Order: sequence, then C-alpha cells, then structure tokens
Amino acid sequence: ISAEKSGFKHFMLKEIYEQPKAVGDTIRGLMSSGEEPPFSLKSFRRILIIACGTSYHAGLVGKFWIEKLAGVPTEVVYASEFRYGDFPVGEEDLIIGVSQSGETIDTKFAVNFARERGARTLSIVNVVGSSIDRESDYTLHTHAGPEIGVAATKTFTAQLAALYFLASTEHPDRYKLLEELFKVPARIERTLEKSEAIEKLADRYMNRRDFLYLGRYLSYPIALEGALKLKEISYIHAEGYPAGEMKHGPIALIDEKMPVVVLAPQDRVYDKTLANIEEVKTRKGKVIGVGFEGDDKLEKLCNEFIGVPPIEEDFTPFLTVVPLQLLAYHIASKLGLDVDQPRNLAKTVTVE
Ligand code: G6P
Repeated sequence: ISAEKSGFKHFMLKEIYEQPKAVGDTIRGLMSSGEEPPFSLKSFRRILIIACGTSYHAGLVGKFWIEKLAGVPTEVVYASEFRYGDFPVGEEDLIIGVSQSGETIDTKFAVNFARERGARTLSIVNVVGSSIDRESDYTLHTHAGPEIGVAATKTFTAQLAALYFLASTEHPDRYKLLEELFKVPARIERTLEKSEAIEKLADRYMNRRDFLYLGRYLSYPIALEGALKLKEISYIHAEGYPAGEMKHGPIALIDEKMPVVVLAPQDRVYDKTLANIEEVKTRKGKVIGVGFEGDDKLEKLCNEFIGVPPIEEDFTPFLTVVPLQLLAYHIASKLGLDVDQPRNLAKTVTVE
C-alpha cells in the first residue's frame, strides 16, 4: 500500500478527516464533467436503488431526496435480497447501483439481472473501471480517492453528494440547490472540531454492551449507519431504528444501562424526535443527542450533547453522520482494536 496515514493513527481517522475534500471533489467532479445522465429521472415509473452495507444507507438517504426533488417513487433494496425475490422490474424502471468498490458481487449480479429484464441502469461508484462501472448504462463517479479502512466513511458522504446531485438534476432551482450543497464541505470541517469532545464521550461509554441509535426521516438512515459503524469496528452490539417505531419493540430494552444515540437536527420531524427522547428518558435511558449547535432545548433534554453546525434540512445527513463515525472510531481505538482491519470483515465482498 502506497497510501500514507499522514500522521493519523489509523486510515479510518484520516479518511473521516478527508470528508470535506471527498465531498467537495465529488461535487466539482460531477459538475465539471458537464455530463448529465442521458435520461430523465421523471421519465421512469419507479427508481430502485440497489446496494449493500454503508452504500445501502446512502441509498436510503437518496430515496428521500429523489422523491422530494424529482417526485419519482423510489425504493431501496439490499442487493442480496433483490436477486432472489420476485420484484417486477422492466423497461419503466431505473436501477441505481451504489457501490464504493464497484465489485460487490451481490450488487453487480442484481444490477445485471435488472438490466437483462430491460431496466436502465445507472451506477454510483468510487473505483473507476470497476465491474459495476463498466457494466452499467451510465455512471456517476464519486471522487473520494482510495479508501483503505474497511469501514466506509468518506465514500459514504461522497455517495450522498452524488445522490443529491442526481436528485436535483431536473429541479427548477437546481442552481440554488447546488450552491447550498457547496456549503457542505466547510460545515463538515467545523463538525470535525468536535472530535476531542467525542473522544471524552467514548471514554465514558466504551464499556457498554449495547447501543440504540434513533432517527426519523433523513436521520433514520444515519441512525442505521451509526449503529453499523459501531458494530463493525468496536464489536459492540448496536441497533439503528426509526425513532417513531421504537415504541413497537426496542423501548422494551431501555434501562439505565442503555445509551441511546438520538439524531435530532431541527428538521420537519424535530418535535416528534424530542418526544421520542422524552420516552427514552422516562425509562432512564442515557441519551446522547446529536443536533444543531446552540439548540439549548435539546441540550438540556439529553445526558450528552454533540452539536453540528446548523444547516438546511436536506443536508443534515452529511453532518450528523460525522460524530457517529468519530464515536465508533474513538471507542474502537480506545478498546485497542484493529480499527482498519476489523475481524471477519472485508473491504470488498466478492463472494455471494
Ligand atoms: C463491505 C464493506 C463495507 C461496504 C460494503 C459494500 O461489507 O466492509 O464497508 O459498505 O461492503 O461495499 P461497496 O463497495 O459495494 O460499497
């Protein structure tokens, strides 16, 4: 490996810090290529996003953006589930394969399976010339650079940038939307300043056995991603859940030993999320809140609080995911685990 850690203890930490650049380069790369997908999103009956792991979580965020900005019904499916189901797919469908490596076998098979049935295929990949890149009708490349850490970080936020770019293609205010998107890298930079505070938090929570992550709407996929990051590298059991669904199950798990990470940016579901925090507190759960800096109401309600710079609703996932990546990182690093090469996991999964 020629890549250097340039002073960072692990590649994962370096890559977390490279996110402002990965997102900025991706937006600039997509804009300067001057290319637009050779078809209109709106011309499809339905869009299906197919992916695995962290790329699947990016797809879940992308679904909300596509439905909001392009108005096309969108579903997100695990590649390994799609292929052996009976999902009706054909010429009226657009398939979006999301894959960092472009080599994940389940995703590759699923995208090809859909194409053979007449669907148009568009992929979002980081590795130029990879199988999924070559085999799709059209590709949007993320420009995150090589990612060494097994747990995906900068490629996730770069995928978000590509998905937002795509979702906005036919929007009448596209120029304005992209101008807002361009503000994201600087805000990620500011979010990274919270690393030290998160490290202290990691000290206090590193010996817990279970974590719950909650969020609604755009923050729901981020809850899933936060839980995945913790599981992958710290081997602590963590579950991500839509906050409003907590009362149908996970609430039974909550007691004073259970840290509950709640994503509560000031978006359309903010009040609902605060109500969910109250429910956790009533059961004595320890709430680690992630919300906007200066949100005193939220801060008072939580046992721990991590603030991210305020930003428009649509862009909150770019920021709220960062403290969760850092929390997982600092816990795993303090536990002395092999952060970049976690046991049993591979960077690219080329077996079914
Ligand atoms: C593996 C990696 C994950 C990644 C997933 C999908 O499980 O460990 O970090 O999210 O594969 O990979 P892809 O290259 O298709 O995005």
